[in-house]
Formats: sequence, structure tokens, C-alpha cells
Amino acid sequence: MEQFIGQPRLPKFASPKRYDIRLKPDLVTCKFSGSIAIDLDIISETKFIVLNAADLSIQYETVSFTRKASSSYSRPVPGRTAQVLGSAPSSSSTNLFFFPSVVLNFLWQWWQRLCTWLFSLPTLEGFGTNVFEPCKVHLVQEDEILILEFPETLPPGIGVLAIGFEGILNDKMKVFYRSTYEHNTEKKNMGVTQFEPVEARRCFPCWDEPACKATFKITLDVPSDLVALSNMPIVDEKVEGHIKTVVYQESPIMSTYLVAVVIGFFDYVEDHTSDGVKVRVYSQVGKQNQGKFALNVAVKTLELYREYFAVPYPLPKLDMIAIPDFAYGAMENYGLVTYRETALLYDEQHSAAANKQLVAIVIVVTHELAHQWFGNLVTMEWWTHLWLKEGFATWVSFLATDCLFPEWKAWTQFLQQSVEGLRLDELAESHPIEVEINHAGEIDEIFDAISYRKGASVIQMLQSYLGAECFQRSLASYIKRHAFSNAKTEDLWAALEEGSGEPVNEIMNSWTKQKGYPVVSVKIKDNKLEFEQSQFLLSDSHGDGQWIVPIIYCCGSYDEYRNVLLETKSTSIDLEERGAWIKVNVDQTGFYRVKYDEDLQAELRYAIDNKMLTATDRFGILDDSFALCMARQQSLTSLLTLMAAYREELDCTVLSNLITISYKIARIAADASPELMNCIKFFFIVLLQYSSEKLGWEAKEGESHLDAMLRGQVLSALAEFGDEPTLKEASRRFHAFLDDRSTPLLPPDIRKAAYVAVMHTVNASNRSGFESLLRVYRETDLSQEKTRILESLASCPDPNIILEVLNFTLSSEVRSQDAISALAVSWEGRETAWNWLRENWEHIAKTWGSGSLIRRFVSSIVSPLASFEKAREVEDFFATRSKPSIARTLKQSIERVNINAHWVQSIQNEGHIAETVELLYQKN
Ligand code: BES
Ligand code: ZN
Repeated sequence: MEQFIGQPRLPKFASPKRYDIRLKPDLVTCKFSGSIAIDLDIISETKFIVLNAADLSIQYETVSFTRKASSSYSRPVPGRTAQVLGSAPSSSSTNLFFFPSVVLNFLWQWWQRLCTWLFSLPTLEGFGTNVFEPCKVHLVQEDEILILEFPETLPPGIGVLAIGFEGILNDKMKVFYRSTYEHNTEKKNMGVTQFEPVEARRCFPCWDEPACKATFKITLDVPSDLVALSNMPIVDEKVEGHIKTVVYQESPIMSTYLVAVVIGFFDYVEDHTSDGVKVRVYSQVGKQNQGKFALNVAVKTLELYREYFAVPYPLPKLDMIAIPDFAYGAMENYGLVTYRETALLYDEQHSAAANKQLVAIVIVVTHELAHQWFGNLVTMEWWTHLWLKEGFATWVSFLATDCLFPEWKAWTQFLQQSVEGLRLDELAESHPIEVEINHAGEIDEIFDAISYRKGASVIQMLQSYLGAECFQRSLASYIKRHAFSNAKTEDLWAALEEGSGEPVNEIMNSWTKQKGYPVVSVKIKDNKLEFEQSQFLLSDSHGDGQWIVPIIYCCGSYDEYRNVLLETKSTSIDLEERGAWIKVNVDQTGFYRVKYDEDLQAELRYAIDNKMLTATDRFGILDDSFALCMARQQSLTSLLTLMAAYREELDCTVLSNLITISYKIARIAADASPELMNCIKFFFIVLLQYSSEKLGWEAKEGESHLDAMLRGQVLSALAEFGDEPTLKEASRRFHAFLDDRSTPLLPPDIRKAAYVAVMHTVNASNRSGFESLLRVYRETDLSQEKTRILESLASCPDPNIILEVLNFTLSSEVRSQDAISALAVSWEGRETAWNWLRENWEHIAKTWGSGSLIRRFVSSIVSPLASFEKAREVEDFFATRSKPSIARTLKQSIERVNINAHWVQSIQNEGHIAETVELLYQKN
């Protein structure tokens, strides 16, 4: 038995082929009981069956393995000495029910015992089945495995493993959990599953590894008035009293993490794809119309992916459902995709149309539907390859969005994704895209910006290197080759290599197997353009990574794209005609930064000023310059001088990043010197004058989606920087809104800006704005409105109010999924937030400790600190409190604090910043 303990993967001598699962949840007592019969292929002789299980009460007397009739006979052992070892309780079965095969097995065992005991007769042979009972049942908590030891060897062949069990419907938003909602003013529970990455084993014993694919036949016993959904359509339903038994069609082979059920009161809207797939969006009763937008997106997306992947959607139906309590944005369960409400429901009147549509709904729906092929049909072989599905779905969701809504400029907005990848990967505490996973507990932490954003960006880089058409063709052949099976990263590279003839594997290994990315320094010397790469890191540490970098650049115009593959440390190219500017990493499709020499930088500044560059390139130049400044490879003065060239910027993505960067600079300047802060804030207000005048407070007739999205951001920034006219106007509109919730003066797109402005004027002796906002929060049942308010509350500069806000997030009025929305506290509130985190850590760790949300508490509150002393304080505090699920995030956050501290020092040493800034806004 020892040989199975402490292993990263399950042994391979038994392989599941089919699961027959029956579950009976009780939504009132919050328990469930279940039974499972697994068709197993015993591949080689064994006395053991080892599978995953955790936190379940296994009814050990129900455990048996029955050889199928066709298997060769071996005498079953009468009686048993089954023993449950380890700490798992083995409660007796009170509420257990079995389906026929289990009942038969059970009776058969007793018949055999009776024969042996009463008559000392030989056990009956030749009935076609034979039953094996384990002599030991060992639940190893640490490894989340169940070891069944049999007194006799199980011969190769097919048999059925039957197990009865019970579990709890928890409130932790994972496994099989309860989510609460109101139905006819009554508080109700719904039952929801969330299995990814490794929680299925807590709902039923199983081979809980992505490569162990099997078919699933699911049966549910639920209250007869509820809707019960699972991956497949219903094939049979029988009502008996208050309970109905719902039987679902057997699924094609799939991984355990994609199994799902949802039970509750729901309404839906429905449509069909052109090839007959039935698509529904379910929501709480009365909210079904809010699902229409997502429904429309889903139908179009399924049709689009059918073309793109050249394989039809593999299931007969697709349900998408909004769950009030949901830990993630959404989950791609095969045929039953679950979402948090803000990611699926759209309300014409109350949703901030623009950004909610793009970021919260379209991107999420297109992402999850991409998984139906990339992830569900072709599944990663092991969690090391998680990035493959997440990075790919992230990338392709922009491709789909760009097809469905070309006016949204999805590829420009994609830069926001790349930048988040770059920002994480410039830390020494980053990790490679492909990570070795040796224990289930390590998986949660890799659902991060490296797997998603860097993953998506390197796919984007490769696609632009190979060409869209060749990329798609090779991808379709990859999907075909591995459909209903599993694949590794190398399998994708192999298909792309075959399709393109390029050394894809070699190029991509340099991006997925080592952490970090390069900064390419560019200069001109003797009519030669010189490129040199080195690892880009924000901290003082020096990386020695080297990459194969596909470089695309343009000289003076976009008429001709030039390419060079930088395979060594440096290279140079003869420049005959150089044009007025040179832009490297044109279109920003490469996952690297560029550092220009001073002359090249001045030319680019001129080109931006004179509107010669595309939005993507303007974005890249700004972001690279900001990163170089934070890494202290470029002065703040030079960054601010560059920023001044963006005063007439109107592109949504570029301006939005300019605003994000401004916030960060304002904070670091405040740490470096309070006087500098005022002058810098004023500079940013001047910088935003042009766009704020163009956009105004009122939506223009027929304006673009992007302008609508931008308006709120620009106004929020002006409020954040304390622009008096903005604060005043916001207050006027907010009061009109308080008098009349449907006033045209405060449409959803500018509501957050008004809330931020209101919170800016709130303090302990002038609390009315805060209280009004809490009133609005309490009165709305729209999740998006609640989130918007939570996101605004902590922008208040008064630490006393910040403390109240933080305490409010822990109250029962805030769903635990939403608490993290209120953690982006003002500069003035940082210390208070850090003290609050320490004081409440035990409660926080207990409430959020087992999921991914806990990481947000750490990163949101720790990362903004900016002194070496604070970094040490954080280290000391967590010295005894860190745990695997937050370890990496904690190290990254502490690294950020040190980076901030260094940056503050370098700004303090820079000198003349204020003078330069004054000159800059005088020029504006
Ligand atoms: N597979 C994930 C959901 C998930 C994340 C499960 C982490 C377990 C752990 C899903 O496809 C996903 O990526 N969801 C994203 C939203 C998406 C649009 C980026 C999420 O929940 O943040
Ligand atoms: Zn995903």
C-alpha cells in the first residue's frame, strides 16, 4: 500500500471507462448522498484499486468490484474484514439509495455469506458475475486517494466498481455547494458544482485526472418543483411525491473536472444554432431577459468556432447559467457553462453598456465556448499544460469578438491582456508557462496572468509569425487528431510545425519553458540597426534568460513590415532607408519590451505628437517606457515628457492604459514627495482635458461603444486627481440620481465616475455620500450595480471610512465572491488596509482560504505598499502564516513592495521633476 502514497499521479493499472453516478442533494439540510458504479478496465493484475476521493463519507460496506460476465472466473471471497484506515469517518448509511446493479451486488454478497455461514456450502460459481470485496479501504487524506485492497488478485478485464457515499453541500463555492437567492421573497438554496481543477473527487470517488476520460451517465433525485441541469439533455424524468428522478443522456468521453450539475428555480431564454444545437441561458426567475444578449453571442460564437476549428460542437445542447455565488468569472463545464451573474446577464437600463458587454460578457462567453473544443474535446494531458487551454481560449476569445463586433477593436484591447502578462513576468518571482505539478494543492496557483495572459500573448506572437491561415489550418488538424483524447504542449507545436515547416517547437520552448521575457535594446550605429536582448526584470536581480524573438519593425511608414528572427544575444541589420522613425514590435504582437536609444525615442515622440503611429504602437511605446521607468532604466522626467505627447489621445485602450499609468505615477510621486504629487496630479488633469472635453458627461447620439466605455474612465480619473469641476458636476448628477433612480443625468456608463467623485469628498464628519451609496447598494438586486459601488467605496481618502468599508466587505451584506471588489484602496488608506488585513487574517484565511480569492486579498493590499520596512513587516507577519495556496502571490507582492521602495528612492534622487512637469503643462 505504501507505494501509492505521496505520488503525483494515480497508478495506471485500472482505467475508468464509464461512470454511472446517482446523486441526491438535500437543499434544506445541505447534505447529499450518492452512489457510483464505474466500469473499470483492469489493465494488469492487481490486488489494489487506487482512485481519488476526499472529504466524503464512504459507505464501506457498499464497496465492491464485480467482474463482468465475459471476464474469466475467479472465486469471490465470502465475508470481509474491511477496515477504514486514516482519519476519514465511515458513517453508516442513513439516506442511501442504490441503483439496481448496486442492490444486486449487495444481495449477492449477503447470499454468499449466508451460504458459507449456514451450510458451509461452497460459494456458488458460474453465474456469470463474481464479486470482490476489499479487505481494506484506506482513505489517504493527504493525497486525496482511496486505496481499496483486495484479498485476491483482480485479473485483467472489465468490471464494475460500486461505492456508496455521503457529503456536505458546502458554502465555499466549490465541489458541490449551495448558493443563495430569493424566490418569492423567500431565501432559498440552489445546488451547484464547481469541479475544476480537482474537486470532483470531493463529490464522488473517481479517477480525477484530466487524462482519465470516460463517459458519464448521471441521475439526480431532486425536489420535483426545481430545474435540474447537467452536462447532457434529459432522457427520462419520473416524479414520485416531492421527489423527481431525472436521468440524463450518457455523455461522450470527457474528463471529471468538466462534470456539472445545477439545481434550483430558474427561467431561461432559448435559441438554436444553424446546425441545430439548442442553446439556453438560465437565470434567476424574472431575470431571463437579461440573458438575451449572451444568448445571441453564444449562438454566433458556436457557429464561428464550428468553422474555425472545422469540427462541429460536440454535444446536442449548450446551457449557460448565472449563479449568484460564484468564485470565478465562469467555468466551461461540458454543455453546462456556469457564470457569475455579472459575466452573463446584461440589463439594457442598468448595465454600464460598453465595458460590461465587452469585458464581462462577450469575452467570457467566447472564452468558455472556445473551451468546448479547446479543453473539453481536446484536453490537456496533465495540469502542466493548463496554459494551453487557458492561454488559447483567452487568445481566441479576442478573435471571436473581433469577428462578431469589429467596431470594438478587440485586437487593440487585447494589449491589455499582454500587458498584464508582461507585468507579472517582469518579477523575479514569476514562473514559466509550463510548470511541473506534483501535488493537487499546487494547481490553483497557476491559474494566473502567466497561464492566461502570457499564454495568450505567445500564441498571438506565433500566429502572427506563421500567418493566420496556416495557423488555423494546423490548429484544425490538431483538434481533429486529438479529439476525444488528450494532448500536451508539444502536440500543438508538432501540428503547427507540420503545417508551416518552421521550427515551432524550438522557438516556442524558449517562451514556455523558461520564465520572463526579453527587453530588446535598439540603436543605430554606422547605418546599422542593432538589436540586443537581455532579460527584463523590475528588481535588481539579473536574469540570464535568452529567447528566440520574432521581431517585426517598420521604418518611417507602415507600407513595409520587416522581419528578423533574433536567435542569439544580438544582431544588426544594414539600414539603407531609415525614414522619420523606427518602430520595433510593430502591432505589439511580440511578448517583449523595446528600449530605444535617445534619438530613436525622440523621433517616436515626434511621430506620436504628429499622429503618425497606430494605436497599438502608441500603446506599446508608452507601456515599455513606463516599465523601463519603474525598473529605473529610464527617468521619470523622460516618461512624463513622453506622456505629454498623448494629450490628444482618444483611443480607448491607449487612453485607458495612460490613465492606469497615471494612477501609478501619482501614487509613487506621493511617496517620493507630497509637493511633487500635487504638481503631477495637475499635469494629469491637463493631460486629460482634451479627451474629457471631447467626451463630456453626456452620451453623443450614435457614438461608438468605445467612446461610451472611455467616458467613465476619463471622468473617474479626473475625480481621482481631484479636478474640482468634475467633482462638482458629479455631485450634482449623483443627487439627481438619489432623487430619481432613472434620471437621465446618471446613466450606467458614468455612474462609477460619480460614485468615485462622491467618495472623494466623503470623510468621517461628512458621511452623507457614503451612506447614500450604501443605500443604493442595499436597494439594488443587480450584481453589476453592487460591484460598481463596492469598487468605488475604497477610493475615499479618509482612512476611517476605509476601515468601515473594509469591515463592510466582511459583513453578510457582501457575497464572499464580491469582497475583493472593494480592496483597491486609496493611497491614504493603504496603511489602514494593511493593519486591517493583519487583524482579520484568521477570519479571512478561514473564509476564503481554500480558493483563489484569498490571493486577491494579499496582492491588492500588500502590493501598493512602498517601503523596505513594510516589505519586512509583511515577511515577518506571514512567516508563520503562509501556505501553498498563497505562497507565490505573497512572494510576488513582497517583491513589488521592494520595487516600489527602490522606485521611490530613484525619484527622490532624480531632481528637477517638478520644473519639467510645469514646463510640460504650460506647453499643453
Ligand atoms: N476554467 C476556467 C475557470 C477556472 C479558473 C476554474 C480557475 C478553476 C480555477 C475558465 O475557463 C476561466 O478561465 N474563467 C475565467 C474567465 C475568463 C473569461 C478569463 C475566470 O473565471 O476568471
Ligand atoms: Zn478558461
